[in-house]
Amino acid sequence: MAEAGSFADKVKQQADIVRVVGEYVRLKKSGQNFTGLCPFHGEKTPSFAVHPVKQIFHCFGCGKGGDVFSFVMEMEKCQFPEAVRIVAEKCGIAIPRPKERSPEERKENQQRAALVEMHREAQSFFVKQLETTAEGKAARAYLEDRGLNAEAIARFGIGYAPSGGDALLRYLKQKYAEKLLVESGLVSRDQSGRLFDRFRRRITFAIANESGKVVAFGCRALGDDLPKYLNSPETPIYSKSNVLYYMDRAKDAIRRQDFAVLVEGYMDAIAVARAGINNVVASCGTSLAEPQIKLLGRFTKRVIVNYDPDAAGQAATERSISLLLEQDFEVRVLALPAIGDKKADPDLFIREKGADAYIKALKDSPPYVDYLIARARQMDLTTGEGKLRALNFLMPYLQKIPNRLLRSEWATRISQQLRIDEPVLRAALSKAAAERRSEVKTQPELVGKSAKPIERRLIRMLMEAEGFRRELAQQLQQGGLYRGLETEKVFAALIVAALSDQPMQATEIGALLEDRDRRMLFEILFEPAQEGTWEEAESCLEALRRRLIEQELAEVQRSIEANAAGPSLRELLTRKQELMKRLTAER
Ligand code: UTP
Ligand code: MN
Repeated sequence: MAEAGSFADKVKQQADIVRVVGEYVRLKKSGQNFTGLCPFHGEKTPSFAVHPVKQIFHCFGCGKGGDVFSFVMEMEKCQFPEAVRIVAEKCGIAIPRPKERSPEERKENQQRAALVEMHREAQSFFVKQLETTAEGKAARAYLEDRGLNAEAIARFGIGYAPSGGDALLRYLKQKYAEKLLVESGLVSRDQSGRLFDRFRRRITFAIANESGKVVAFGCRALGDDLPKYLNSPETPIYSKSNVLYYMDRAKDAIRRQDFAVLVEGYMDAIAVARAGINNVVASCGTSLAEPQIKLLGRFTKRVIVNYDPDAAGQAATERSISLLLEQDFEVRVLALPAIGDKKADPDLFIREKGADAYIKALKDSPPYVDYLIARARQMDLTTGEGKLRALNFLMPYLQKIPNRLLRSEWATRISQQLRIDEPVLRAALSKAAAERRSEVKTQPELVGKSAKPIERRLIRMLMEAEGFRRELAQQLQQGGLYRGLETEKVFAALIVAALSDQPMQATEIGALLEDRDRRMLFEILFEPAQEGTWEEAESCLEALRRRLIEQELAEVQRSIEANAAGPSLRELLTRKQELMKRLTAER
């Protein structure tokens, strides 16, 4: 792993695990550690901890643990060298010579870099078209009409794709091969093989990836041309289900405020951000994909869903609720009221009612539960079948509520609001709960508890006491003092490491241990503890010695009793005397 003096070692020295983990998990300071919700298993209360001094992490729930590299390997599902590279990049550490990649890999990377560069150029092209051309002027008028002034246009990087059919193509062609132009999705090929611009006579919205690089465009027709929006296809640098519009700009605010507003469209995200709510992202259409939720989940687990109030938006809201609940999000829903007879999306609502009204509506947005009950109440509840339909609509969500008390409260509310007989409802509910229970994994118990306090202290001292670690390891080894302890294997590994005079790396030592022992080690390392002294170490050693003597004594005693007439009785009695003397002599 991170061998002393290697690049990986250098990265590990410089990287701060709290910062790196903090990019994936919301961490809170808690005592000397940081804690958060474990990204490796679903949980509601944090059992995931990061130790800033030891630069390790450990989940007390699922038992995963290690250093900054093992974290990134697990998180990004990558190998060690890749993890080193990622951490180095995150921490701004220059990577010496790029690792020798396979020729294909190198080619793919070059291709991706060229595509990103091409999008950067396309973006400035579109922006310039909007600013400087006659056609662009008409487009500006359209935007102005929709409430977007020059300042907003600049802020959101809005541009214009002209109608000519090959303006962008001519601009890019000098620099890029035809094949790459087609791969970018910015240019298409017609049946006769001729190239032409994919986006024509459209307003362009730049779609950036999480790090702020433009990787795609969403382009709106000026009038009633169809489709209303034309978007970039899937390309080597863009996958729709992995990107949320405005995420690159919103992520700091999302983390800070610990919630995100989720809207459907580009115009909605822009309107909401302009209303002063910068923690907004758009799913770009109605369907929210799991990778998008995971991306968001790295910054917050709380969402207000504010989709359009049309049928598609409602269906999408309900699907999104399900997906978000599955990923342990806390979900609220803002269903904006119609304005006159117009159904209002966030953009329209803000334009008509103002930012303050929107902010108030956001603040008042109810938990998803209330939204769903309201939806169920719109169904026909006058008949038995109608009620059953409403109940069937609600039950899947109800099933996802992990807390029994909450579920029960819900049941009462539903029975009241839908006038459904409570016993009937509860029967359905407990059936649902039973189904749920069978899915829930039991929380593993802490294994570290089985280690006695002296063992824990000695393990800490072996790890941390640089001054006398070696001496301590020798003493432990000499008398075989750790044999038979619950932590025997942990000691064995620590002693080998201590006697080899290597720096004590928890992750590397852990890698030599079986899962249970590794967990034990990490749990012990995360306990708050004072620095050990040699006196304390000696007294722990002493206790272990006595323990061995007592064990032997018990054995001798058993032999004496079993062997009353045997020839070795004399020897046994002598040994017993010796042992008794040692027990009383030493302290
Ligand atoms: P909407 O139809 O609600 O558009 O689609 P909008 O954002 O309110 O746009 P305006 O206000 O009419 O200009 C919401 C989102 O769905 C995606 C786009 O991301 C859009 O912002 N969409 C919609 C498409 O990708 N293609 C379409 O044809 C329509
Ligand atoms: Mn809309």
